[in-house]
Formats: sequence, C-alpha cells, structure tokens
Amino acid sequence: MRTLRIGIVGGGWMGKVHAMSYRTARSAFGPDPAVPVVTTMADVTKELAEHAAQECGIERAVSDWHAIVDDPEIDIVDICTPNDMHFDVAMAAIAAGKHVYCEKPLSHTVEQARKMAKAAEDRGVTTIVGFNYIQNPVHGLARAAIAGGELGDLTYVRIFFNSDFMSDRHLQHTWRNDIARAGAGVIGDIGAHCLSYFYHLVDREVEEVLCDLRFVIPDHAAPLSTGAFRVGAVGDPSRRIANTTDDMATVLFRFQGGGTGHMEMSRISTGIRFDIGYDIVGTEGMLRYNYERINDVDLYRDSGPVERRGFTRMRMGPTDPRYAALLPVTALGLGYNDYKAMEAREMIEAVATGRPAYPDFRFGRRVQEVVDACQRSHAQRSWVKVSG
Ligand SMILES: NC(=O)c1ccc[n+]([C@@H]2O[C@H](COP(=O)([O-])OP(=O)(O)OC[C@H]3O[C@@H](n4cnc5c(N)ncnc54)[C@H](O)[C@@H]3O)[C@@H](O)[C@H]2O)c1
Repeated sequence: MRTLRIGIVGGGWMGKVHAMSYRTARSAFGPDPAVPVVTTMADVTKELAEHAAQECGIERAVSDWHAIVDDPEIDIVDICTPNDMHFDVAMAAIAAGKHVYCEKPLSHTVEQARKMAKAAEDRGVTTIVGFNYIQNPVHGLARAAIAGGELGDLTYVRIFFNSDFMSDRHLQHTWRNDIARAGAGVIGDIGAHCLSYFYHLVDREVEEVLCDLRFVIPDHAAPLSTGAFRVGAVGDPSRRIANTTDDMATVLFRFQGGGTGHMEMSRISTGIRFDIGYDIVGTEGMLRYNYERINDVDLYRDSGPVERRGFTRMRMGPTDPRYAALLPVTALGLGYNDYKAMEAREMIEAVATGRPAYPDFRFGRRVQEVVDACQRSHAQRSWVKVSG
C-alpha cells in the first residue's frame, strides 16, 4: 500500500480541517491509490504547533515550516497559513520538488500567483488550491448543463457571498483585518470563492471589471488570544487596532462571449449568516443555486407551453461516486467538511496517479488576476481590463 506523507503549515482553523479531511478521505475512499498520512504540523511557536498536532493526532510538531519543506520523507506541503505566507512556503516547497496544496487565495499579490503557477509547471509538481465550494458535485450538474448548451448563450451571471461574521467591532483583530497580511479584504477572501464558482461553471475569461470596495469597520479590539480563527472571539475593548481591509465589495464585470456579470460580497451584512449563491442566465434557460440548499441546483428551461415552464430541482446524490463514497442516500446531504475531504482526496489521487489536480495553481492565478483587477479598478474609480 502506497503512503503519501504530508506536512501542514499553520495549525489554525484550516490546518485542523485539512488534517481531518485526509482522515475522512482515507475512510471514505479507501487506501487506493495511496494512503495520506499527516506526519508534521508547523506553527509559529512550538506550543501552537504542539497544541494543533495533539488535537489532530499528528506525531511531530515544529515551530519552523522549513523543517517540513526540508524533510525528504514528506511528499505534500499543505499551506494553511495567513495569505502573506503562501508564496514563500509554496516556492520553497516547489523548489524542493514537493507537491503543494495551498489554501485560497493562492497568494498575496497577482505577481506572486504568476510566479507560483509557473514554478509549479516548470518543476512538474502537482498543485491544488482550496476552493472547496466547487468540489460540491452538485456544481458538476450545473457545469454540464452550461457546457451542453442548455442555457443557450450566456447573458448574465450574478454571484453573491454575504455574511456577517466580521460585522461586530468587539471581535478581536486578526490577520484578516490587516492588509499587510491578507493582501486584500473581502474581495480576496470570499471574492476569490465567488470567482472560483465563475471559472468552474462558466470557464470563460473575465475581461473587464468595475469594482467598488467599502471600508466600513474602522477598527477591531486587540486580540486576547492567538491561534485558530474563531467566529465570535472578542478582544480587549480598551485597545483598538485599525482594520485596513475592505469589508464589502460590489463588482460589475464583462466576460468573454459578450456576457455581463455582477458580484456582491460582504463580511458585515448584519443578520445574514451565510448567503452564498449564483444565478446564471442564458437565452434559453437559467441556473439558480443557494448554499442554504447546499445539495440542490435549480435549472429553468425556457421551452414548452408558457404555463408549464418552471424550475427543475437537480439534487445531488449517490449517482455521483464521490457523494456515494461519503453517503449512501440522497437526502442526507453533504456539507462543508465533506467538500474539504473531497478536495483532499482529489489531491491524493492526483499525486498518486500523476494526473493534474483540480483546481490547480493556474486556476488560482486566474482568480488572482481578477482580484488584482478589482483592486486596481477601485483605486482608479473606473473599468479596468483583467491582465494575464
Ligand atoms: N477554503 C476556505 O473556505 C477557507 C476558510 C478559511 C480560511 N481559508 C484560508 O486558509 C488560510 C488560513 O486561514 P485560517 O482561517 O485557518 O486562519 P487561522 O488564523 O485560523 O490560522 C492560521 C494559522 O497559521 C499560523 N501561522 C501564521 N504564520 C505562520 C508561519 N509563519 N508558520 C506557520 N504557521 C503560521 C497561525 O499561528 C495560525 O495558527 C488563509 O489563507 C485563508 O484565506 C480558507
């Protein structure tokens, strides 16, 4: 039985989710073509690394990520740090010939994303980016309907991701509120997920964007604790640290083939817990998805008698082999951590069989090109072309 050894860099929320995902993937999909084993966890201090390693049942904890990159036994470097670290760790890992699983957004800047994608291609290593939402197999049904021409010519795409998980000023300041660490605010954080939906489903280039970023929350309370991100963790109210990242974004875009689009993103939409979804409209039909019904996507076909036209609800179930590996019954439904397990499985299968993983660093770079264009558009207060 082949084993693939993994070192995780960053033992916060995502570090733990990734550790869990490899175990779930192993149990659900079995030991072929390889068994993933997380051997090492790195964090900024030995205490943080040991804490995460113990919780996740990982043997070795290190306070310097180079120990993972330099370890000849490790096959996959798994990056779960704040965004400003993705580039250094990924480039060192690629140079050492490691395969790389990197959380989204791929990088801090678009220049870094270009270098990362090129380095991975030149070195011939397998890469994947943590756009877990598109691992949900229900989007495969939507993608197939679009690719099969069921919507006709695409005219309009609306993608939204609204939440209120950072609306409270009492919450503690984290790296997400620091532009020097995050590289972008909402547009790079959840905007990157919106763009992953677009590229997964529509798979055409975004050509131009007009973006308005809003900076609403001026500061957050100084942190009382370090380590994993937790929704609702309050800080020290007497000490304030400036929030230098955007909290909301509205984007108009035009895409290849003459279609137009609209994205709205917010981390401060009071009362909205998690409103993610899309409408994809064509001349002959449309698709509608909302995360509240995570396993369903609705398809409308503009044909037949007018009074009989309506949406067909497409529901994901065990006809999809990845769904079937996790659940035997349709209505039970998959959730966030299941998509992470599918993502881990995708990486393990790709590395073990030598095929590319999806979505790889090139996909991550495409997303980063649009994030960059949005930031430029906001700064210039005008439409800008997406480069790359
Ligand atoms: N795909 C998703 O849905 C999703 C969700 C959340 C976060 N993310 C991404 O995952 C990454 C991590 O986010 P998170 O929510 O887990 O953050 P987090 O703050 O919970 O965890 C980050 C961890 O990295 C550690 N760290 C910081 N610098 C380090 C270094 N130099 N070496 C080793 N460890 C270091 C921190 O101490 C912390 O434990 C980010 O890039 C974020 O955008 C993706």
